Amino acid sequence: MHGEQIFSADEFRGALGAFATGIAVVTTRDGTGRGRAITVNSFSSVSLDPPLILFCLGKEAFHYEGFAEAEAFAVNLLAAGQEALSNRFASEAEDGFEDLETESLATGSPVFRESLAALDCRREAAHEAGDHLILIGRVAALKAPRAADPLLYFRGGYAGLTR
Ligand SMILES: Cc1cc2nc3c(=O)[nH]c(=O)nc-3n(C[C@H](O)[C@H](O)[C@H](O)COP(=O)(O)O)c2cc1C
Repeated sequence: MHGEQIFSADEFRGALGAFATGIAVVTTRDGTGRGRAITVNSFSSVSLDPPLILFCLGKEAFHYEGFAEAEAFAVNLLAAGQEALSNRFASEAEDGFEDLETESLATGSPVFRESLAALDCRREAAHEAGDHLILIGRVAALKAPRAADPLLYFRGGYAGLTR
């Protein structure tokens, strides 16, 4: 970290963790058609017109090259109870699509039938930002939200909505 910084990496993580987010699994297909997926909480809406969204891809991520070069990707927003799906794509050890039902919308990137909602995107831009790459997608098709609560992430752990 930079010399003038007066907080530690742990303090930085801790502060960021106080911002509650949803969880998404971003998917794409490589040149051979094989699916790839990564769990992220850095998803954000960007623009309504044109419809743009973003997520931040860690340069150390197992599938970095696959996503950094992908022309399309789909953002699957997770529903309450999908911790196992989140965990599955949060490490390179277990990242297969076996036994998961997927469908294609516009780009062919895998969309999970059980996702809360999904945004199928064509890559609009990519910006280097520190140890991450900001990937901006233009939404080509979407899967409307089904009636379910979201899976949340807060202070380093999963959480749920309390109303
Ligand atoms: C809740 C949660 C949020 C995450 N958010 C991101 C993210 O926004 N961007 C990212 O590149 N990786 C994120 N990750 C880590 C990736 O899922 C993980 O690095 C990736 O699946 C590859 O696994 P590896 O770290 O074993 O290489 C997140 C993980 C979890 C559990």
